[in-house]
Amino acid sequence: MSTPSKHQSGMDRRKFLKAGSLTLGAALVPNLLDTPTSDAAIPSNALYIPPVLSGKNFNLKLQKSTKQIASGALTKTYSYNGVGFWGPTLFMKKGDDISLNVTNNLSEQTTTHWHGIHLPAEMDGGPMQVIEVGKTWKPKFKMMNNAATYWYHPHMHKTTQKQLALGAGGFIIVQDSVEAVLALPRTYGVDDIPLALGSRSLSATNQISPTTIYGDTLLTNGVANAQVSLPAQFVRLRLLNIESERVFNIGLSDGRTFHVIATDGGLVQKPIPVKRLIMVPGERYEILVDLTGNAVGSTLSLRAFNKGLAFGYGGAEPATSGEFGSLLNNTEFDLLKIQVIKATSSAITKLPTTLAASTFPTKAEVTNSRTIAINDQGAGTPFTFDSKSYDMSVINQRVKLGATEAWTITNDQIFGHAFHIHDVQFKIISRSSGPIPAHENGWKDTFSIQRNERVTFLAKFADFSSSTWAYMYHCHMANHEDGGLMGQFLVV
Ligand code: C2O
Ligand code: CU
Repeated sequence: MSTPSKHQSGMDRRKFLKAGSLTLGAALVPNLLDTPTSDAAIPSNALYIPPVLSGKNFNLKLQKSTKQIASGALTKTYSYNGVGFWGPTLFMKKGDDISLNVTNNLSEQTTTHWHGIHLPAEMDGGPMQVIEVGKTWKPKFKMMNNAATYWYHPHMHKTTQKQLALGAGGFIIVQDSVEAVLALPRTYGVDDIPLALGSRSLSATNQISPTTIYGDTLLTNGVANAQVSLPAQFVRLRLLNIESERVFNIGLSDGRTFHVIATDGGLVQKPIPVKRLIMVPGERYEILVDLTGNAVGSTLSLRAFNKGLAFGYGGAEPATSGEFGSLLNNTEFDLLKIQVIKATSSAITKLPTTLAASTFPTKAEVTNSRTIAINDQGAGTPFTFDSKSYDMSVINQRVKLGATEAWTITNDQIFGHAFHIHDVQFKIISRSSGPIPAHENGWKDTFSIQRNERVTFLAKFADFSSSTWAYMYHCHMANHEDGGLMGQFLVV
């Protein structure tokens, strides 16, 4: 590969070519790089910022939609409230009593799950809370979570991957009194930008293939080749991986350091400097990028540095086609092109020194420990937890209300996974692969577990119990989840 920018131009071109009209394969890249291109020839598309809904009462309708994703035919999608791809961003305040009306206007069953939110299992929107076609589900709960970035998405058993791939999902931004007094960027769409990152596979007629594992077209908030103008100040990016399986190794194109300010479930104690951030499907990080030293008119990109990722990280497979192939696999590609514009009048120009204090559960408080193994039944069989495929009629774990538990997840498989649990935010206390990365030192609900790794976390199961409604734990790689890598637990 020659220069990064030339490489990138080649990548962008490929995304807009119809898969059917060319031979996919390694030979493609040099061919395109040999073809003279100018930036003008490559369509860049303005980043879509989802509309905002705020308050205590929310109306969501999941419906069939369309979106102009590539030139030519419209892409058929699913979206909440007809936004095209994805859904409105819900701003909720900690302490508020929230009620929602969620209407299913699809022609198939669905559910809507509040990922990362601590609430009664009956309100969770897992596979047990099916919304029939044409019906409205009305969950109610008190928002107890810390300020951070959460999300909602379908969780219908066996069709989660499809419904998510077609675009159904949305952000939840929780605000609280701790976050509100910090000098952080929080002008939504200006210096505070939500980014749902996921590749999708488009057919020759621009239709999304809902079961393709790795797409060839990277979509950022549903936009291919997305670009945004950001002011020359500290900007806050709320990153979410909405891939089926692909992991992102995120960085800035010029290699600069940026700072993690929040993990899945809350602000960290103080900004954590990083140059790279591995994100598995379902994971969120809020980061601050310092653009104060950038000249107006300068450009950089948020990029996935996936070239050279070890086998086992989703998307590290070198194949460019086939079941586990993609033009984006094991390569570098842009997630968002940034052009720098004049600072705003209320610019944040300094990195905050401290953020939020948290009291995490400790080993001394642990009242019960359990180990859950990711395994399978032999080569080519679906992944399972403890050799059992998900069965809605089976309760896999029972947790006592008020317990503080240590969960150890083991993975003796050939592939990495994205472990996620409902109801709680937890603290990772050990990784058999080595030290816990500094940026995982916060509230988490989803994490990467790689080949031959054991990960232990501590969680307190407080407030909500039920003898009938279960919470889920599963791999957040949607095809693994649909394939049965999911279990359920009661808090009793
Ligand atoms: Cu993001 Cu069980 O879900
Ligand atoms: Cu998995």
